[in-house]
Amino acid sequence: MIVCHCMSISDKDILAAMAWMRASDRQTIITPGKIYRALGKKPDCGGCLPHFIATMKGSGDLEVPHELRHLRQNNKRHKE
Ligand code: FES
Repeated sequence: MIVCHCMSISDKDILAAMAWMRASDRQTIITPGKIYRALGKKPDCGGCLPHFIATMKGSGDLEVPHELRHLRQNNKRHKE
């Protein structure tokens, strides 16, 4: 199913890019911008973003790596 009509990006393209990014770097934070770059494209109108993000949320690869969670809270604790 096409998610981004401007750039002809499908849900399968998004999920494949996410899987590739996660396999390449286990600690990476995956964003829509990184997915566009990985696919060699740039967003145009941005109208697809809600559906784009919903597609991303359907992937297990979106999860923030455990060691990168709560960094702001952990930094506050170290300063106190
Ligand atoms: S539909 Fe994705 S940028 Fe326009």
